[in-house]
Amino acid sequence: MKVIEINNATVYRGDTRVFEGFSLAIERGQSTTILGPNGAGKTTLLKLLSCELYPVVAKGSYVRVLGRERWDVWELRNRLGIVSNDLQNDYLGYVPGRDVILSGYYSSIGTYRHQTFDPVQLERAHRISRDLGIDELLEKNFASMSTGQQRRFLLARALVNDPENLILDEPTSGLDLKATFQYLETVRQLIRDGHTVILVTHHVHEIPPEVRHVVLLDQGKVIAAGAKGEVLNDDTLSRLFDTPIHLVDVNGYYQVLPA
Ligand SMILES: Nc1ncnc2c1ncn2[C@@H]1O[C@H](COP(=O)(O)OP(=O)(O)O)[C@@H](O)[C@H]1O
Ligand SMILES: [Mg+2]
Repeated sequence: MKVIEINNATVYRGDTRVFEGFSLAIERGQSTTILGPNGAGKTTLLKLLSCELYPVVAKGSYVRVLGRERWDVWELRNRLGIVSNDLQNDYLGYVPGRDVILSGYYSSIGTYRHQTFDPVQLERAHRISRDLGIDELLEKNFASMSTGQQRRFLLARALVNDPENLILDEPTSGLDLKATFQYLETVRQLIRDGHTVILVTHHVHEIPPEVRHVVLLDQGKVIAAGAKGEVLNDDTLSRLFDTPIHLVDVNGYYQVLPA
C-alpha cells in the first residue's frame, strides 16, 4: 500500500497555480524527505495530503492518501500525524501543554468541555510526554514555552493516536543546536520503531540517516526522486537551490557549503 499516491494533479492557491499535472508516490515504510527551496510547493503538498486543499477535478487526476481518495478529514488527520508550523501558530492563546497533547485525540486546536478522555488515553498522553522529556511542562502555557518545547508538544499531540505515518514540516527550524539534535534523535527512533516519516524541508542537515529516499521539488515539479545517495549530490543541489553547492556527507548526515 502507498502512503501517498498523487496522479496528474493541478492545484491552485488563490490565483497561483502551484502544481500542474503533478504526480508523486510514496510507499508505506519508505521514509522520505521532500527537499526544495522556498516557494517550491512543499507546504501546499502537505495541505493536499491533509485535505486542506483539493486538486482541480479532471479525468485521471487524483490524490490518494493511505489508499483512499475520500476521507473524514478528522480521521485522516488522526492517522497521518501532522506536525506543522501552521499548527504551532494556531496555539498562541492560553493552552496548557497537557491540553495541547490531549487535543491530538480529537485533532482539535485545544480541548473543549464536551471532549472526554478515558484513563487509558490520559495515561498514554502522560507516557508520551515522559518519553519526549516534556512531562514537567504539562501545566505550562504553550505560548510561554521555547520553540523547541512547543515542537515537542506538537509531536506528542500527533503521537497520541499512534499514527503509522508522521508528516513533519521543517521540524527543526527555529531550534537551537541541542534542541535540533534531540529532535533528530527522536525522529530517528520513531523510524526505527516502524513509523514512516515524511519530512518536508529546505535543510539537508534535517535529513535523518534512517531516511533513505529523497524527492527534490522545485517550482511545483519533481526534478529528481529516488535513493538518497543517488539523488543528493553537488550538481542536483546546485540546480535545486540555484547556487553553487558542495555537499558533505558525514556518518549518514549531510551538510552543505558554498562551492
Ligand atoms: N494563499 C496563497 N495564495 C496565493 N499563492 C500562494 C498562497 N500560498 C502560497 N502561495 C504560492 O504558492 C507557491 C508554493 O508555496 P508553498 O507551498 O508555501 O511553498 P514552500 O512551502 O515550498 O515554501 C509559492 O509560489 C507561493 O507564493
Ligand atoms: Mg513551506
